[in-house]
Amino acid sequence: MTTINSLQDTTVLNNGVKMPWFGLGVFKVEEGQEVIDSVKWAIEAGYKSIDTAAIYKNEEGVGQAIKEAGVPREELFITTKVWNKDQGYESTLAAFDESMSKLGLEYLDLYLVHWPVKGKYKETWLALEKLYKDGKVKAIGVSNFQIHHLEDILADCEIKPMVNQVEYHPRLAQKELLSFCKENGIQMEAWSPLMQGELLDEPTLVELAEKYGKSVAQIILRWDLQNGVVTIPKSIKQHRIVENADIFDFELSVKDMEKINDLNEDRRIGPDPDKFDF
Ligand SMILES: NC(=O)c1ccc[n+]([C@@H]2O[C@H](COP(=O)([O-])OP(=O)(O)OC[C@H]3O[C@@H](n4cnc5c(N)ncnc54)[C@H](OP(=O)(O)O)[C@@H]3O)[C@@H](O)[C@H]2O)c1
Repeated sequence: MTTINSLQDTTVLNNGVKMPWFGLGVFKVEEGQEVIDSVKWAIEAGYKSIDTAAIYKNEEGVGQAIKEAGVPREELFITTKVWNKDQGYESTLAAFDESMSKLGLEYLDLYLVHWPVKGKYKETWLALEKLYKDGKVKAIGVSNFQIHHLEDILADCEIKPMVNQVEYHPRLAQKELLSFCKENGIQMEAWSPLMQGELLDEPTLVELAEKYGKSVAQIILRWDLQNGVVTIPKSIKQHRIVENADIFDFELSVKDMEKINDLNEDRRIGPDPDKFDF
């Protein structure tokens, strides 16, 4: 079991870069004041890691919030992603420059291939390797990659992906994928860890929340960390941003971890990475 005791604790990626175990996601957070407020509240609450993407169309606001927060750049860990229509070698390099200019940053911490676009993702990966070798990004990774996509990349990449960000929550525990990532030194990261709010009434989780004196969201997020999975819940409400990060003063027992593992139904709320068409 992974021991994680504070919001500042980090996992060490396969290239030695430290990545916070916990961060804020900003999918569906509106560009402008909404994203600026959310990111600033998170940084104020001690968050170091922010997860955006070109397709979220809020990179400018994320960059603005970082400036306004006044925290030294090197203390933060910023992730963005190349969108599907921009995949390919030259187009990825151009998309990266555009994201960086919107974010207003000199370097990025983590750049991800957002989805495994068939026939494109390998060329895209070559572009990420180039950005990494040029020192423009500290770590590179993928998102929504299944085991076969990872095997395909690992077969002939020069630089191994450091992270795989995938849908992960108690209804989709991704056991095989998680084992594969661990065996290959790829850090798994959970998107939609709260199943976009759908799990908050689940009776087993409600019972555990009462037992530990925590909220259901906190129980789920703690389960992520104890399984060795980085987590990035989204909220635009200040009290929830604070609540979600307050998960470092308790530990789920092995038995209770198993109870949550048993909730798995291999059920997605997002698209299937083998069937998406966007
Ligand atoms: N790589 C990918 O393809 C991909 C796909 C999806 C998401 N992501 C990333 O993962 C992040 C998280 O996923 P997500 O945004 O889809 O969903 P999520 O974090 O599972 O859930 C967010 C929803 O839960 C609510 N919520 C948050 N904290 C809560 C709490 N303590 N109590 C009750 N409700 C709470 C939020 O509402 P309020 O905002 O109103 O609080 C929002 O409706 C995204 O923001 C994005 O950065 C990546």
